[in-house]
Amino acid sequence: MHYFIYKDAELYCEDVPIKEIADQIRTPFYLYSHATLVRHFNAFDSAFDGIKHLTCFSVKSNSNIAILRLFARLGAGADIVSGGELYRAVKAGIDPAKIVYSGVGKREDEMEYALKSDILMFNVESHQELLVLNKVAERLNKTAKISIRVNPDIDPKTHPYISTGMKENKFGISIEDAVEEYKFAHRLNNIEIIGISCHIGSQLLDVKPFVDSLKRLLILKGKLKEAGISIRYLDIGGGLGIKYSDEQPPHPIEYAEAIKKEIKENDITLILEPGRVIVGNAGILVTRLLYKKEQGQKKFFIVDAGMNDLIRPSLYGSYHEICPIRKRNTPLVEVDIVGPICESGDFFARKRKIQDIEAGDLIAIMSAGAYGFVMSSNYNSRPRPCEVIVKGKEFFVIRERETYEDLIRGESIPAFLI
Ligand code: LLP
Repeated sequence: MHYFIYKDAELYCEDVPIKEIADQIRTPFYLYSHATLVRHFNAFDSAFDGIKHLTCFSVKSNSNIAILRLFARLGAGADIVSGGELYRAVKAGIDPAKIVYSGVGKREDEMEYALKSDILMFNVESHQELLVLNKVAERLNKTAKISIRVNPDIDPKTHPYISTGMKENKFGISIEDAVEEYKFAHRLNNIEIIGISCHIGSQLLDVKPFVDSLKRLLILKGKLKEAGISIRYLDIGGGLGIKYSDEQPPHPIEYAEAIKKEIKENDITLILEPGRVIVGNAGILVTRLLYKKEQGQKKFFIVDAGMNDLIRPSLYGSYHEICPIRKRNTPLVEVDIVGPICESGDFFARKRKIQDIEAGDLIAIMSAGAYGFVMSSNYNSRPRPCEVIVKGKEFFVIRERETYEDLIRGESIPAFLI
């Protein structure tokens, strides 16, 4: 359920007609609904009421500081994977004591920054990383609180690019080797073990893989206890899927109930790292039809957003619903909806049946709130779009559209060419 709704054939975001925003700020732009963000966060977080838990919003899914601030106000922590994400989270007002840091390739300077910020926990992903973290912490005279990210070898049955918890993936330490690694970590002077973490993949449509991996984590927790290592935090990552088309993802309540059933101990705090389930359906990409074109049997709708603005269809073949901002009483046409980028992979939909529209009309690419703007680029020297949030009857630009000057910021012509 979200707040992008038609009123008299006109698509609104909450109480604002989207056309009005487009007329004022040009296209393309990302548009988020405040009410949807709040509702999704609260629905997810409150589903875990009854057990000690911390919802660490996954910053990689949407890192705009206005959105992070909103979640900070709702009590969220953050799941980060880089120094840049730490910077954003802290700037936005997220309490560092609620920040967990995952990622297979943390650099020393990033570790240092996180240690100085006193984050809650590093999710360590390799033996070598553990050694480096211990060394950096020693240098700073600090103790790094850690979990080891284990790879539970569970098939999440999702797109191979976003599956992360199987043996062949680069993430985590295999669960069989975890006890030894924990024992090793336990002996390091500047490391304090506080948790176990995992993340098995994204856009999961079934609760079973989550429950299976949690069971493995709990077995590991038991083995660690026997070894004299106590665990206070269980971080089960993110990954709950959303509806893009006709998927039927579990409701957060169903997900939470299945997880809660497994957690009988009251000595642990559960950490969750949701991204997509909170922001995915709270945002859309608004674009304008530039040209219609027929090539043989094929019809193309060429719009003013491109794969540089939203890469998911090109990269994963992802489906995004596409809706006209103003519904017309026109017949359905089968079209490829493509962008202006010089690549055949620059498409938002192929062989899609949509209502016929005319050049100048606006369309919405739905479910673009997660992994949308954050994955955008300047390819073809296209300034990145702006981001807007609607709250009730008002809208606010939360990131300006880039300018041509922005495109060359930091570039310079060396002396030998002057
Ligand atoms: N925690 C960790 C350690 C992660 O790697 C991820 C996502 C999350 C949490 C959040 O997962 P979510 O709740 O959003 O599923 N670009 C891809 C998705 C990549 C996900 C990467 N990791 C896409 O557009 O579908």
